[in-house]
Amino acid sequence: MSTTPTSPDPRLVAGSQPKLLHPAYTSTVRRAPSQPLIQVPSSMSDFTAPVYGYLPIGETDADLTRQHAGEPQGERIIVSGRVLDEDNRPVPHTLVEIWQANAAGRYVHGRDDHPAPLDPNFTGAGRVITDAEGRYSFVSVKPGAYPWKNHPNAWRPAHIHFSIFGTNFMSRLVTQMYFPNDPLFPYDPIMLSVPDAHARDRMVTAFDLSLTQPLWALGYRFDIVLRGANATPFEART
Ligand SMILES: [Fe+2]
Repeated sequence: MSTTPTSPDPRLVAGSQPKLLHPAYTSTVRRAPSQPLIQVPSSMSDFTAPVYGYLPIGETDADLTRQHAGEPQGERIIVSGRVLDEDNRPVPHTLVEIWQANAAGRYVHGRDDHPAPLDPNFTGAGRVITDAEGRYSFVSVKPGAYPWKNHPNAWRPAHIHFSIFGTNFMSRLVTQMYFPNDPLFPYDPIMLSVPDAHARDRMVTAFDLSLTQPLWALGYRFDIVLRGANATPFEART
């Protein structure tokens, strides 16, 4: 995890990270830099700004099914994994945040007005700190696919957004976790903005029976590798 916006990790495999300009993903046309990048000097505030927000991490922050009076609709899931560096070493005490649509594919967001129901028992945001072995775990519901207006009949595969912070605000990585065997993969320009198929596979979680809890929830394993040849594709590196 870099603390400055330096040149790309030389150990990354070509095509393993998303292209900044991927015209099929139309937002990138306006978002991608059209001029050479300028290095902005870092200041102390970059390294001392709060990472964890104003509120301490609460008891239900890692269980998105217990944040309201009742339980949300949908298929209950457990998502667990480890945050690792390029040498397979755990990254402990790191903030992992997630956000996702509900089981019907609807976000609690003012700009999401597509005709799917909101769930009064589901907000779709969680956070947790990795333990000494780099492990994290969330309980949630499986998000639904949702339409978007990128192109005619565009649908996003079911996914959970992940953010990983290092020790300061300048060390944030953002990615998305997908579910196995989703038929929407070949049509999703966000996933396809990562050219390398093996790298795309690293964004797909693995069903893991050992994480599944009988009569309660299905389990999925999603390890996040920060750097090196097996790095997870990251859409944002700060
Ligand atoms: Fe999303």
